[in-house]
Amino acid sequence: MDKMDKIVSLAKRRGFVFQGSEIYGGLANTYDYGPLGVELLRNIKNAWWDFFVTKRNNIYGLDSNILMSPKVWEASGHVENFSDSLIDCKECQLRTRADHLIEEYFEKKGEEIKVEGKTEGELQEIINKEKIKCPKCGNFNWTELRKFNTLFETHIGIIGGEKDLAYLRGEIAQGMFVNFKNVLDSMSPKLPFGLAQSGAAFRNEITLGKYIFRTLQFNLSEFEYFFDPEVNNWEEVYGQWKKEMWDWTTQVLGLSTKSIQWREHTDDERSHYSKKTEDIEYKFPHGFRELYGLAYRTDFDLKNHMEKSGVDMRYTDPKTGSKFIPHVVEPTFGMDRSLLAVLLESYTEEEKNGKSRVVLKLPKKLAPYKVAVFPLLSNKPELVKKAEQVFSDLLAEYPVYWDDRGNIGKRYFAQDEIGTPWCVTIDFQTLEDDTVTVRDRDTAEQQRISIDKLSEYFKNELA
Ligand code: GAP
Repeated sequence: MDKMDKIVSLAKRRGFVFQGSEIYGGLANTYDYGPLGVELLRNIKNAWWDFFVTKRNNIYGLDSNILMSPKVWEASGHVENFSDSLIDCKECQLRTRADHLIEEYFEKKGEEIKVEGKTEGELQEIINKEKIKCPKCGNFNWTELRKFNTLFETHIGIIGGEKDLAYLRGEIAQGMFVNFKNVLDSMSPKLPFGLAQSGAAFRNEITLGKYIFRTLQFNLSEFEYFFDPEVNNWEEVYGQWKKEMWDWTTQVLGLSTKSIQWREHTDDERSHYSKKTEDIEYKFPHGFRELYGLAYRTDFDLKNHMEKSGVDMRYTDPKTGSKFIPHVVEPTFGMDRSLLAVLLESYTEEEKNGKSRVVLKLPKKLAPYKVAVFPLLSNKPELVKKAEQVFSDLLAEYPVYWDDRGNIGKRYFAQDEIGTPWCVTIDFQTLEDDTVTVRDRDTAEQQRISIDKLSEYFKNELA
């Protein structure tokens, strides 16, 4: 079993991630988060919000609607440009993205190439020249390539029609651009400042089973950092956020610098709105792939919205009174990819004293449960009573797991597998001196700590 298969299996077995609509055979490229997954995802999202929004005095949060006027997506260029090239196998009907077909073909040959953004003609030429066969049935019998817009269409009202066409948002950034004037009017922020948002985005992706790496609905957290290009050099602003993104990835998510790298987009590949884009790529089992993106979107979005809506989107300099459209640098972060990378990075198999264990060495702050509490024996009412008391006291401050099934070894094993940093056991000594054993997930070492010092101990460890 490769690492990804192990993660998929553990995530299902222990309640992190389930196939979407599983009882109906599953809906491809949709996943649901289970009781542990939702906590892990929420911890990552909250840590992101804390790191980029709460702890900074010039980044403001927003929560805009998933449904926006279709005019937003026309002005932003998504209706025209947000597309992939599709190709179908005439033999087995496999439908795939042409750029992915080519990249995976070269990857199998040991060559890393990027063709995202190339024209239909260029992609077709590569497929024909290399005689790339269908990865499912092995035949070389493709349809012509065709463009396919990845914006999800929907209709407002009970009778669908051209007039009622709407889109589920393909990125959450547009919510920040269309509310730019509202924020100027309500908060009077001074440049440079940022608008941040965290929420669901939707893309009609054609993809060959990459688990939660590429899904139809995904969780995105991003911010637009607006600045005056006459005052702040864009490369400096860009460089500042490049460093902060790296710090978040390594310090908060805990990804090793060996598993991540920056990669700059080629001219072909760059989105229609960007003058420069770089990705932080993570070493997923299927290769180094995009985890996050950083783009210099210039004044593209605000300018287009101003032109198309007729609303003045300019910022007024409070000192000089001059009016201009700010430029923007955008750091963007896929939250599901963050969760997947954290699971992959944390997954460890260990052998100690002839015993093997699986440990999710999650950053402690991100772990779904911080502590598990056990009575040593579940048939001794005095131990259970004491353990219940410790459990409920800790529960007031931390997410705590209660377990009184099986033996202690099995309980440790179960907690290691879901990444709980500490296990607290109430034993007979506890009844005498009010101390408990605290076992550390990563070292498996135990120490005795007085019950009245427990909360402070965890607080310090989590600081
Ligand atoms: N506003 C900029 C923007 O949306 P993007 O590179 O298209 O940029 C941002 O997407 C991030 O969203 C990516 O870096 C990736 O982490 C995540 N992402 C994009 N498409 C995704 C999908 N189909 N499933 C899961 N995550 C996705």
